[in-house]
Amino acid sequence: MINIGILGLGTVGTGVIQILQQNAEDIQTRTESKIRVKKVLVRDLTAPRQISGDFEMTDNAEDILSDPEIDIVVEVIGGIEPARTYILKALANQKNVITANKDLLAEHGQELLTAAKEAGKDLYFEASVAGGIPIIAALKQSLAANRLTALVGIINGTTNYILTAMSEQGRDYAEVLAEAQKLGYAEANPASDVEGLDAARKLAILASIAFNSRVTLDDVYVEGISKITREDIEYANELGCTIKLLAIAKHQDEGIEMRVHPAIIPKTHPLASVNGVFNAIFVVGDAVGETMFYGRGAGSLPTGSAVVSDIMQVVRNIQSNSTSAINCTCYQDLPIKETDSFTTAFYIRLLVKDEPRVLATLALLFAEAEISFASIIQKPRGHQEAEIVLVTHPCREGKLQEALESVRAYSKVLNVQNMIRFEDGR
Ligand code: NAP
Ligand code: HSE
Repeated sequence: MINIGILGLGTVGTGVIQILQQNAEDIQTRTESKIRVKKVLVRDLTAPRQISGDFEMTDNAEDILSDPEIDIVVEVIGGIEPARTYILKALANQKNVITANKDLLAEHGQELLTAAKEAGKDLYFEASVAGGIPIIAALKQSLAANRLTALVGIINGTTNYILTAMSEQGRDYAEVLAEAQKLGYAEANPASDVEGLDAARKLAILASIAFNSRVTLDDVYVEGISKITREDIEYANELGCTIKLLAIAKHQDEGIEMRVHPAIIPKTHPLASVNGVFNAIFVVGDAVGETMFYGRGAGSLPTGSAVVSDIMQVVRNIQSNSTSAINCTCYQDLPIKETDSFTTAFYIRLLVKDEPRVLATLALLFAEAEISFASIIQKPRGHQEAEIVLVTHPCREGKLQEALESVRAYSKVLNVQNMIRFEDGR
């Protein structure tokens, strides 16, 4: 019998217990061990719960962290503290740990993995990225033979849910965000989702594993979806494209390129049809070529699925006396590329005076930065005003910013409404 202590009984903790209960027989057969949830930590012992069982509830973490009968601690409370201290204590007390906490891993992954190695225990975290999609096991094990060159993913369910509803149903941003919160997809502070930080943290975790080099949140260029409007979605549609919040990591000769931002992608691209709370990650390796992983990126049972699968693997490791076999995989120290050197095509939406020479002057300002246009859309707006959408050929981000500075200073430009990068995802 393996005893588990679970820290947290919210969306994920409830899903974990539900799966352990409903699939108990199969799980026991597959692991050749009975898994018992012995204790569960919550903040408020009087709060109503969606699940019950023969486990003991406590509001004192020590009851779990210092219980000699507990072999595995599952951390699903979230946040940095006290989660970090609890995990370090659990490892020091010779317990294996499973966590779904991307905030913590993106910030303190190295410290925690080192502690796990020193303790000779497992630290598994499949649920920390892309909910139910087994992407971490795939990168650490199934694709380990490759030199991975690119990861391009939709790894935040909340923003994908919002962009899908805005684009398919023309719904309002705030209303859809409230719905995503109610469904348990959004973080406690949803700014983390909509400003791209949640995806950036997940990308840091994935890239560290994929490129065997430690990447942290600070290394990721981050831009959220709050500036995306219905107009941008409609123009993208007109261009045969759709807008997604993409997390992009590329291993190139000059170093690692890390960015999270809204991106315009062709409707024919496989990531374009990833809708709602679904996540997908496109992974390119030198031997395997292109692969794509798809599934539910958030929610009680999908995330619980990843946590319980980790529990089962750790149970097998305990039985075969092989815990700590796969922990930190960062054996390189690769440079991080500067934002100015990113190369993409751009969508630029401008509100201008509808007068002769305006378009010609804009073309000249961009030409001075060695940027040429791939296409142009112009629509009348208000009195003697026009909205112009410029789509550039691929150019360096630094050059684009240079051109935008001149465009902003041009008196016939009333406003630079938005700038969105294109991505072909490959
Ligand atoms: P949640 O619904 O807010 O649940 C958090 C649970 O932890 C609650 O039961 C809460 O107790 C307990 N808790 C929080 N702080 C505590 C403290 N200081 N001491 C004791 N108990 C404490 O969170 P969640 O959505 O399940 O997320 C848990 C983790 O999974 C987070 O790291 C999150 O990023 C990650 N994750 C979530 C999803 C998802 O779809 N939700 C997907 C992937 C990963 P009370 O119930 O008494 O308040
Ligand atoms: N808030 C996260 C999301 C939960 O929307 O993807 C899963 O990590």
